Amino acid sequence: MRMMGKGGIAVLPASPAKLRNRDSEYFYRQDSDFHYLTGFDEPEAVAVLVPGRASGEFLLFCRERDPAREIWDGRRAGTEGAIADFGADDAFPISDIDEILPGIIEQCERVYYSIGAHPDFDRRLIGWVSVLRERGGLRSHAPDEFIGLDHLLHDLRLYKSRAEISAMRKAAKIAVKAHRRAMGVCRPGLYEYELEAEYHHEFRRHGTRMSYLPIVGSGANACTLHYIENDRLIEDGDLVLVDIGCEFDYYAADVTRTFPANGRFSDEQRAIYEIVLDAHAAALEYVAPGFHWNEPHEAAVKSVTRGLRSIGLLEGRLPKLIRDGAYRRFFMHRTGHWLGLDVHDVGDYKVADHWRLLERGMVLTIEPGVYIAPGSRGVAKRWWGIGVRIEDDVVVTVDGHEVLTRDLPRGIEEIEALVGAALG
Ligand code: GLY
Ligand code: MN
Ligand code: MN
Repeated sequence: MRMMGKGGIAVLPASPAKLRNRDSEYFYRQDSDFHYLTGFDEPEAVAVLVPGRASGEFLLFCRERDPAREIWDGRRAGTEGAIADFGADDAFPISDIDEILPGIIEQCERVYYSIGAHPDFDRRLIGWVSVLRERGGLRSHAPDEFIGLDHLLHDLRLYKSRAEISAMRKAAKIAVKAHRRAMGVCRPGLYEYELEAEYHHEFRRHGTRMSYLPIVGSGANACTLHYIENDRLIEDGDLVLVDIGCEFDYYAADVTRTFPANGRFSDEQRAIYEIVLDAHAAALEYVAPGFHWNEPHEAAVKSVTRGLRSIGLLEGRLPKLIRDGAYRRFFMHRTGHWLGLDVHDVGDYKVADHWRLLERGMVLTIEPGVYIAPGSRGVAKRWWGIGVRIEDDVVVTVDGHEVLTRDLPRGIEEIEALVGAALG
């Protein structure tokens, strides 16, 4: 509210409930911005912030209590709950918004709103403002400016508070447990979805759910970056790449490990794994206040290129290979992204055309990978179908970083010891 100042008004709609098919709904997940500002996790709600408004600065429009509906869908906070439990200064039934909100907007000069995220709501908001314009004259006043709320809100979301980091630490811990559990029971002869089930079990056991569609890719499936079918039989000699995470209190973990299904890396798998492991370590050295966003990626690129050159998959001089982006054939994604309420969290990576400097409280992933698709031209067949990614969640601290997922082994011997360990 301080950033908006007097005369501003922010309007945020809750996520609508979404149908999956016919009348079956998806599990409801509140919009991250809405949750961030309100903690109010029901659909059919609108949050309004009006800095300096004497009769209330934080307003919630929400569903009213309805005993008949609540028998089917569960408890609602209602307008009383919005005030008592969520700290709203005032609350109104969502069904009255057309009568109430335009009159509040009328008192303001600048509307802070994120256009495009909720197209249906965009039209309603524009409708309310148009009505004020049409009335015009002395009696009515429409705000002069629409300003993207994202700029303010997403910058706030980029810097995690202690409470947020503690939720992310919890999400990371649960994801680590799930990876350990799944690696412990992994063996050739399982289907990928059977391995996935181990993660579901561990996540739900802690009251969490997946933070995104999980990737459980064995063999060459590891080379498909967004592989989500997870329905192949895991064979002896396969590597398994699992990219999975849970959401604790709305905060995401995003963790990848790649391990041999039978507990032993082949020579080729080990060589590629070591390249990715070295790149991971190289990138981590640049996660600290003062380094800019792209420095971990630059370190990973250099390390991967050097590694691929050392095993003959790239040929030429190192600086030229890096300049030409020769590595991109095998390492085609970036080394990480912001992490928070959203898996690919909000926040600008550049400020005024310069890479953003890392600062305390920012959380990011470090996730280099190397993927050699089957049929890769000019690459000896023994490398085909090997895909490796190692992904950890990292928070920037005052003088360095903390790896939230540090309890999950990455080293070759530790991984080999862990796979199948629960099978006796
Ligand atoms: N799981 C998505 C990512 O690693 O970015
Ligand atoms: Mn990621
Ligand atoms: Mn991931």
